[in-house]
Amino acid sequence: MTATLRSLIPAAEFVSRRAALMQAIGPDAVALIPAALHPRRNRDTEYRFRQDSDFYYLSGFPEPEALIVLAPGRGDGEFILFCRPRDREMEIWNGYRAGPEGAVKDFGADQAFSVAELDARLPDLLAGRSRVFAPMGVQPDFDRRLGGWLGQVRAKGRAGIKAPGELHLLDSALHPLRLIKSVAELSIMQRAADISAEGHRRAMALAAPYRHEYELEAELLHAFTRHGCPAPAYGSIVGSGANACILHYTENDRRMQDGDLVLIDAGGELDHYAADITRTFPVNGRFSDPQRELYEVVLAAQLAAIDAVRPGASWQAPHEAAVRILTQGLVDHGLLSGDVDGLIESGAFRRFYMHRTGHWLGMDVHDVGDYQIDGQWRPLQAGMVLTVEPGLYVAPDDETVAAHWRGIGIRIEDDVVVTEAGHHVLTARTPKTVAEIEALVGTSPRNHGAREQGARVPA
Ligand code: GLY
Ligand code: MN
Ligand code: MN
Repeated sequence: MTATLRSLIPAAEFVSRRAALMQAIGPDAVALIPAALHPRRNRDTEYRFRQDSDFYYLSGFPEPEALIVLAPGRGDGEFILFCRPRDREMEIWNGYRAGPEGAVKDFGADQAFSVAELDARLPDLLAGRSRVFAPMGVQPDFDRRLGGWLGQVRAKGRAGIKAPGELHLLDSALHPLRLIKSVAELSIMQRAADISAEGHRRAMALAAPYRHEYELEAELLHAFTRHGCPAPAYGSIVGSGANACILHYTENDRRMQDGDLVLIDAGGELDHYAADITRTFPVNGRFSDPQRELYEVVLAAQLAAIDAVRPGASWQAPHEAAVRILTQGLVDHGLLSGDVDGLIESGAFRRFYMHRTGHWLGMDVHDVGDYQIDGQWRPLQAGMVLTVEPGLYVAPDDETVAAHWRGIGIRIEDDVVVTEAGHHVLTARTPKTVAEIEALVGTSPRNHGAREQGARVPA
């Protein structure tokens, strides 16, 4: 048994991704893509390995300590993979390795070598090429080694060997490809979204005032893991009460209180593709009047922003749609006063809405791709995937607003594909209206009798 290609992306798609990258860099260039590092967590314990997204996108190869070289037009093969050699002893302890043999047989490499041969082979692979495309500033050790290999090629100049004269960031050639998702990618992202939606539904069903935030986090993880997401796509946020106003809250250890809202921002990662969903709901199953009023403002802003997603629309259009409705709502409810256009112009709304309305989504939760081209917001195109996630956050100590608004934090986030016809919401199975949420929160059979049990657990 060896490690084999286990991706849901067909092998032929990896071939066409490599061909597209080689087309983008041109015939006299070479691209180098290192695998992710495998960082230590503490003492002799490691984090679960997660492959670098660029590396995985091009190879589906799941192991650390590897390097992809793409050399367009090279006679002995264009796709060269350096990886760990087979090692019976190491494989017994740490798992199977493809080895160079498996890299060729199962991952489509034209040639493969042990990583131990990198220093011996890289100068020759760079020689004669004009441009090198590689990530820079990400892995200092790789940067240093690349510098050394280039230096060795330059030193052979008197022997008539041409050294690359230009160093380019890989991003510029590769990330435009990753920005547009294929049918296979969208199908994985739909599945990641469906699994994540189930996690949110489970968390809503289990919510109750006597429970802890981490109990809801456990529901999310249960659904993700049970359906094949090896990990969340990012640190899950379960923020109740005023914790919902901390944008990157991850402690998730507070005991929730009757009357709180809880904000959950969590998504699973499936085959290296992320889902990213936020829902906000009352832990006791009923929105208070002020909570519902602000919730309806955020929901209206979110629906208007989603509606603005269509091919040809500017990247900025959903944000502008959301900001207008949020600002109008803040004025209508007395949190801001003045003219809506003026409050947008001056940025006064940022007191309550301090982030942007979305980001690209894909293999990375904040996925790659430029948001502007030549200083202009980019037009949306079919195959792009973005989040739409407006919110309102009233600081618990904000004395400029009536006391009943303070400490309310609300965000609603969905994942949206731009389609030829407009858009498709991948995360539509996650309850979102007040009625849908109130019908579900707290309904888990595990809540029966749990209030009394929970009350015995020290807060
Ligand atoms: N969960 C990260 C984000 O929503 O951007
Ligand atoms: Mn997001
Ligand atoms: Mn999110």
